[in-house]
Amino acid sequence: MIPDEVVELVAQQADIVAIIGEHVRLKKTGSVWRGPCPFHQGTNANFSVMPRGGYTCFVCGEKGSVFTFVQKRLGMSFVEAVKYVGEKCGVEVKETERKRDGPDPREPMWELQATVGEYFSRVLWDAPGGAAAREYLASRDVTRPVAERFGLGFAPREVGAMRAHLNGLGYDDARLLAAGLLVRRDETEEPRPRFRDRLMFPIHDVSAHVVGFGGRLLGPGEPKYLNSSDSEIFQKGKLLYNLQNARNPIRRDERVILVEGYFDALRLVAAGIECVVAPMGTALTEQQADLLTKYSRHVFLLYDSDGPGQKATFRAADVLLAKGLEVRVVTLPEGEDPDTFVRKQGREAVDKLVEGALDVFDRKVQLLERAGWFADLQHKRRALDRLLPTIRAASDPVTRDLYLARAAQAAGIAREVLLSELHTVRRGSGARATATRKVERPSAGRAEAGPDDMWPDAPPPEAEPVPTGPYKSEVEQGGAEQTLLRVLLTQPVWQDQIIEELGKIEAEESPGGESDERDALGEDAPGVLRDPIYRAIYEATLRHGADAPPEVIAEELWPHAVRVYEDLRGEKEAVVDAKKSIADGLRMLRGRSVEARIRSLESLLALASTDEKDRINVAIKRLTDEKRALGVQSWGSVRRRR
Ligand code: UTP
Ligand code: MN
Repeated sequence: MIPDEVVELVAQQADIVAIIGEHVRLKKTGSVWRGPCPFHQGTNANFSVMPRGGYTCFVCGEKGSVFTFVQKRLGMSFVEAVKYVGEKCGVEVKETERKRDGPDPREPMWELQATVGEYFSRVLWDAPGGAAAREYLASRDVTRPVAERFGLGFAPREVGAMRAHLNGLGYDDARLLAAGLLVRRDETEEPRPRFRDRLMFPIHDVSAHVVGFGGRLLGPGEPKYLNSSDSEIFQKGKLLYNLQNARNPIRRDERVILVEGYFDALRLVAAGIECVVAPMGTALTEQQADLLTKYSRHVFLLYDSDGPGQKATFRAADVLLAKGLEVRVVTLPEGEDPDTFVRKQGREAVDKLVEGALDVFDRKVQLLERAGWFADLQHKRRALDRLLPTIRAASDPVTRDLYLARAAQAAGIAREVLLSELHTVRRGSGARATATRKVERPSAGRAEAGPDDMWPDAPPPEAEPVPTGPYKSEVEQGGAEQTLLRVLLTQPVWQDQIIEELGKIEAEESPGGESDERDALGEDAPGVLRDPIYRAIYEATLRHGADAPPEVIAEELWPHAVRVYEDLRGEKEAVVDAKKSIADGLRMLRGRSVEARIRSLESLLALASTDEKDRINVAIKRLTDEKRALGVQSWGSVRRRR
C-alpha cells in the first residue's frame, strides 16, 4: 500500500511528457504534445499528451494517467509504477508496512536456499568437478550469460562437499536436513545430499526468493529431474517457473506462454521471448491458474507435440478455462518441443506460430475433424464426449455459448440437443477413461504417478512405498480379471486360449474396429481388463509373450504392480478347476462388455435421426438378448449407485 497523499504528490510532480516521451516521439502542438500512438502502433499523430493531465488516442481510444501508461507499456503493477515515476521526479515512495510483527519468518529459509544456489553456481563455473556440466551446457548451446541469467549451478558428485561448505558458513546439519538439502533414512545414518551430480535450476517464488531447485542429470538415468521436496517455502503446485522474471513482460504483452519444462522456458527467454512460465513437472494446478489470472487473461499453451504433450495441453486448458481465462494452443511441428524448435528456427518462427495459435476448442474440433470423427454417429458420440467436458469447464458464459455453437455446427447437431447433453453426465466411457489413466507409470518415461504428479520426486534414499497385504481390485469384476490372469500366469496350457478369447471381447467392444492405442485427442483406448494393475500385467505379458522370463515382464511394471504380479504367479495352488475358472471369468467379462456396448448405444439415441433410432433399438434388443443368454446379472444397477 502506498498512501494516497504520496500517490497524489508523485502525480503532481511527474513530468508526463518526459516520461511518455521516452517511448513515443512527441511534438508540441498548441498546449498539448502529439505523436504516433504506441498502443495501436499508429503512424499519424493521433496520440496526445496533456502536460497537466493524461494521454488519449483519438483512434484506438486508449487513455489514462502517467501511471497507467507505465503500467501498460512496461508491464508494471500500480505500486511499481508509482515507485518508478516517483524515482524519476525525486519523490520518495515508501509502502506502508502491512505487517508490524517483524520480519517474515521464512527469511532464514530463503536465505539458505539462495546461499546454496550461489554455491552450486560456483561449483558450475569454477570447480574442476563442474567441467562436465559446463560441457553439457555448451553441447546444448546454452551460453554462460543465459545460464547465469537463470542462476544455473551444479551439485557436485562428492558426498561431503556441499555439507562442508555450508557448515563452514555456519549452517549446521540440523538446518540442512530441515531444508531438505541433506537427507538420511534414520538418525544413525550419515546425512547425504539430496542433489548429487545434477545441473541445478534454482526455482523462485514470484517475489524472486530462491525457494528450491530442479536438478537435471547430465546423462541418462532416473529420475531425469529431481525437485526439492515440498516444504513451507516450496510447493510445486503453487509455483510457476520463471514467473518472477516474466510477470512484468506478461502484463506488458498481455499474454503468457506456458511451456512444460525448465529448458523450454530458458530457451525461449534466451531467444528474447520473455513472457514464458512453466509448471514444475506436475499437471497444471488450480492454484497455478489462479496465479496466472493476476497477470493476464490470455494464455498460450506451447507444449511438446507428442501424445503426452497433447494430452497435457488439453488438461491444462480445462483448468485454465475454469478460471475464465482465454486459452490458445500453439502447435509445433511433429517431433519438436519448444526447446528444439526455437533452437533450430529462431524467435520469428515462434512468434509466427503464436500468432497462428488456435483457440483450444477450435483445436480440439480441428483434430477431431481431421480424424474423421464427425462422419458417423458412433464417432460423433465419442467426439462430443471429448468436447462436452471442455464446454463444461469454461466458466465464462460467453465462451461457453460460443463453444456450444461451434460443437453443434461441427457435429451437425441441434444446439438444444447439445445443451441437454451438456447437463447429462454419462457413465461408461468416462468411468473407463479414469480407470485406464492410472495405467501409466513413472518408468514409461513421461507418465503421471498420481492425479497431479507427473513425476514423483522420490528422494534418493527412500523407495516408493508398496502397500502390503492381498491386492484388492477397485473395479467391478476385478475378481474375474484376477482369476483369468492367475490361470494365464500359472497354467501355460491355457495361455493361448485365454489370450484369444480376451482378444475377441476387446475387438467386439472397440467401436468401428479401431485398435489404435491413442485416439484423436491422445486419450488411451480402454483395454479388456479395466483394473490398472491387472491390465498392465496383461499387456506386458502380451508384448513379451506368455512364456517370457518373469524378470522381463516385471521390468516394465511399477513396484506395486510387480508385487501383484509376483503374488499371482505364486498362486498356482489357488487354481482348482482351470477350465471352469476360465469359462466363468470370460462369461463375466463378456457380460460386462455387452453391457458397456448397450450403454454406449443408448447414448447414441439422443443424437440419432428417426431412422437411425430404429436401427439402434434393434441392436440394443439383440445385445440385451445376448446378455440374458450369458446369464450374468446386470452390472449397470451396481454402477448406477456410485
Ligand atoms: P521434459 O522431460 O520435457 O524436460 O520434462 P525438459 O525441461 O524439456 O528438459 P530436457 O530438454 O529433457 O533437458 C518437462 C518438465 O517436467 C519435469 C521438469 O519440470 C521438466 O522441466 N520433470 C521431468 C520432472 O520433474 N522429473 C522428471 O523426471 C522429468
Ligand atoms: Mn526438452
